[in-house]
Amino acid sequence: MWTSTLILIGRRITLVGGCRAAVRAVLAALIAALTGVALAQVGESAPDNGFTVARFDTDAYKQPASVLSYQESKMFMLGRSHFKRRWIAPITFNGEWGLGPTFIQTRCSECHINNGRGMPPASADEQLSTMLVRLSLPGSDEHGGPQADPNYGDQFQNNALQAQEVDLRYARMFVPAEAALYLDWEDHSVSFADGEQVTLRKPQLRIEDLAFGPLGEGAMFSLRNTPPLIGLGLLEAVSEETVLEIAQAQAEHGVNGRPNYVWDAINKQPALGRFGWKANTPSLMQQTAAAFLGDLGVTSWVFRAQNCPPVQIACQNQDPANDPEIIDADMDDFELWLRTLAAPAPRDVDDPQVKQGKNLFNQAGCNVCHVPELTTAREYPAFPKLANRTFRAYTDLLLHDMGEGLADGRPDYLAGGRDWRTTPLWGLGLSETVNGSTALLHDGRARNVAEAILWHGGEAQASREAFRNMPKAEREALVKFVESI
Ligand code: HEC
Ligand code: HEC
Repeated sequence: MWTSTLILIGRRITLVGGCRAAVRAVLAALIAALTGVALAQVGESAPDNGFTVARFDTDAYKQPASVLSYQESKMFMLGRSHFKRRWIAPITFNGEWGLGPTFIQTRCSECHINNGRGMPPASADEQLSTMLVRLSLPGSDEHGGPQADPNYGDQFQNNALQAQEVDLRYARMFVPAEAALYLDWEDHSVSFADGEQVTLRKPQLRIEDLAFGPLGEGAMFSLRNTPPLIGLGLLEAVSEETVLEIAQAQAEHGVNGRPNYVWDAINKQPALGRFGWKANTPSLMQQTAAAFLGDLGVTSWVFRAQNCPPVQIACQNQDPANDPEIIDADMDDFELWLRTLAAPAPRDVDDPQVKQGKNLFNQAGCNVCHVPELTTAREYPAFPKLANRTFRAYTDLLLHDMGEGLADGRPDYLAGGRDWRTTPLWGLGLSETVNGSTALLHDGRARNVAEAILWHGGEAQASREAFRNMPKAEREALVKFVESI
């Protein structure tokens, strides 16, 4: 039985004609029964799970789940306003004290514009502003995570408090930004089987004005675009068991999805990684705290120390605004807000082209990694309303070797230099409406869905080839389906 099941979820469907769909459905149900995981199922429309909302305009990524109590709605609104709050230096006005000393942006929403994705700079002389660069040296830290550079840490801050913002009585000198970060692009062209050409572009990071001397020996970099923030509570509430079952089901037909295990800085133990492009963060609370520290320079109860490596004297001399700089209640608002931000419902589900695209998506094996449907844990004490919800994010939360073309060569816990977490695809088609960005993949190199697929390699190579070999009309249908998810 397994053999025919596996062939069916895999790339080649050898069954014929009308009975194909029926047999597929039976087998899909069987897999679901055997593994508890609906690998082969593709959603028709939005599940009525209380965390999916039919809103398709520029506010599509900003909606609260429909199941919130009055109290929860109030916290949601507070979380939303903290996200837009501007952080400033302790001696200036018009914001919350605590920014820096080094940082990338002054508020969360400057990168996650309208809760959506970021984009690469428009020209080679413009610095990165809605993306970030992780950095590490060979080896690992005491928890198996990336080994920080002693002078620059594990992420560049290309901004710092300016002279007029620093209290010179205490700091005695203003704080330099760690570096200036730019991108150059390398183009190459690939062709579809029917001869149509596409130009793909790959970013080359250019680091200038290093303020604290050369980087450590063998420094590795990872350029990361800002991802959209939708439906993350559902992803946090999927049980580890479900994720491991998917990995097992994939292993049985040649795809090597692997969980990342990372350091949970809150519970002080290893935990399943879920968030970030390499699944290097276990929870929304930790992700928020890490973003506050790394992106804004704001300390919290999770990460209490300012981000100033020993060599950065001016940074160290700058007093924090408070200890911690963001109060615990605000962090709770953030957590609730992120947990309950709804995902947009799929669109055009009855469009014949979309339906055709859905079948092609399965035939090309996209659904093996972009698993259409997941269900959250049966019980979820952290936020009971998220328990037992079925949703369609099109991810497996697992890492996959995506080949040399997408590699950053920088390990992140168990994620190797070619590994990335399967990106959820929901809401992708609304990205341009939300904030104008269509920059896909971890470093924003793909300008549309077709380019993103053409970059797939490694474990996804057969899928990419299936797409590359499709006639134009089929490629268009598949892309249209992905944009409808
Ligand atoms: C400099 C731009 C930038 C700023 C400012 C920023 N983020 Fe992010 N955010 C990112 C990037 C880039 C990632 C992906 C990180 C990775 O892969 O390691 C990310 C990831 C996330 C994720 C995980 C999303 C997912 O799908 O895995 C959450 C949640 C998040 N950010 C929340 C916040 C919050 C809350 C703030 C404000 C405290 C914030 N971000 C500020 C760029 C930014
Ligand atoms: C082996 C697992 C695997 C398969 C099979 C696969 N993908 Fe992916 N997909 C990924 C991973 C991992 C990423 C993230 C790669 C990165 O950012 O470098 C990704 C990223 C994407 C993105 C970009 C999403 C974003 O928001 O940036 C799209 C679109 C996409 N995949 C569509 C598809 C389609 C369509 C297919 C089938 C033709 C497919 N994928 C097959 C694993 C897979």
